[in-house]
Amino acid sequence: ADSGGSNDYLHGVTPQLMLAVGTAVIGSLQFGYNTGVINAPQSIIESFYNETWSSRFSEPISQTVLTALWSLSVAIFSVGGMFGSFSVGIFANHFGRRNSMLMANVLAFIAAAFMGFSKLASSFEMLIIGRFIVGLYSGLSTGFVPMYVEEISPTSLRGALGTLHQLGVVIGILMAQIFGIESIMGNASLWPLLLGFTLLPAALQCVLLPLCPESPRYLLINCNEESKAHSILMKLRGTDDVSTDMQEMKEESQQMMREKKVTIPELFRSSIYRQPILVAIMLQLSQQLSGINAVFYYSTGIFERVGVSQPVYATIGAGVVNTAFTVVSLFVVEHVGRRPLHLTGLMGMAVSAVFLTVAMALLDQLRWMSYVSMAAVFSFVAFFEIGPGPIPWFIVAELFSQGPRPAAIAVAGFCNWSANFLVGMCFQYVEQLCGPYVFIIFTVLLLGFFVFTYFKVPETKGRTFEEIAADFRQSAGQAADKYLAPDEFNTLRGEDPDL
Ligand code: GLC
Repeated sequence: ADSGGSNDYLHGVTPQLMLAVGTAVIGSLQFGYNTGVINAPQSIIESFYNETWSSRFSEPISQTVLTALWSLSVAIFSVGGMFGSFSVGIFANHFGRRNSMLMANVLAFIAAAFMGFSKLASSFEMLIIGRFIVGLYSGLSTGFVPMYVEEISPTSLRGALGTLHQLGVVIGILMAQIFGIESIMGNASLWPLLLGFTLLPAALQCVLLPLCPESPRYLLINCNEESKAHSILMKLRGTDDVSTDMQEMKEESQQMMREKKVTIPELFRSSIYRQPILVAIMLQLSQQLSGINAVFYYSTGIFERVGVSQPVYATIGAGVVNTAFTVVSLFVVEHVGRRPLHLTGLMGMAVSAVFLTVAMALLDQLRWMSYVSMAAVFSFVAFFEIGPGPIPWFIVAELFSQGPRPAAIAVAGFCNWSANFLVGMCFQYVEQLCGPYVFIIFTVLLLGFFVFTYFKVPETKGRTFEEIAADFRQSAGQAADKYLAPDEFNTLRGEDPDL
């Protein structure tokens, strides 16, 4: 069996698998698109807010109110994301993975309508509500998509296919940046279409999802539908011999029957899950508190301040670098492994942030420092996509077995979105306080996450879900060995004392 370092990289990639993964990551694209879409047309939409305000109240909007309304329009997306990601478990367990993705599109349609018709209805409230709803959709997507993709992928391709979620995100961001150019849709008459565009990927996903299979892991382990799981697995793997996969799922299923139903509080109470949930949360925080969205929400302003003459194009440049390096990660993750890539990414970002700080501090003395700043932002983004971008999204699914997986993904997603919200809301204020030294904060955080990853994050490459979970159980068992009564200890190790 190939455990990850295959030369034949495409081994195991079947048309059915690609259809399923490709369709799922349309959800990731939606998340990326709506992350990036409000960056370029900010001033145009602000004038719409102003006009609407003036015609309603017969006086122009004040700068303070306008700033507040705009920040709300940007940040309410992450609030939606927090709620959406937190609800992932309920839907995924109840309706299945595929049907949950399908149902979530209702939100995308409603959001597109609210945003797309806000200008016609002269209502900025509609735009803000639409942003919240598309945030809900995106929060659900950041849970459903990695969960589904990880569950249907062969072990040796889980990292590569898991990275496709992030590739969907970055392509979405890039599309939004390009569509947002003034001559395309980023202008006073077409911006409603720019925001309403989210309708099209939703429609496409609704057409394609019914052609995709339910996760066989869900069918077998959660619904006990063995023959259905078996036939889907044969199609996904493109072979009649799926006994290894079936065997592995059955083992996981038996293990799950021994465990109690895993709720969110249980994740923190039980010593088996405490370690992996801590790792999962820290990895999410390392992704967001790296400062990446300071770039993706505010890059145009940053480039403007460091004296780049075409800031919008520099922002698109960042989007291109972002996409290119996600592709790099996609091709190396199964060879190099998760840990080395995450560590390299964090360290590279920390060093880039130092360069950026030095360049911004010397800008007044040396004009060419503006080029150094731009290069530093690009390398910051490139290192992000090597590890901290893609890995946290899919590794949570790998750190947990079927029982606790949805709850763990919900908690991790919630932490990710909360940190996203924090950076989105606070960056501009902190920047006003710290000036060119603002990125030093991220450097310190990045170094902290580097140390944590080095000591606490296990390698998951090429190992089955059950093997990974067994390792955590064992270390919890070892720790418990010192403190627990024998019965309790055996339960922790998954050996029912009554048998
Ligand atoms: C990750 C982050 C997202 C960020 C994106 C940038 O998907 O979760 O917040 O905007 O990467 O590529």
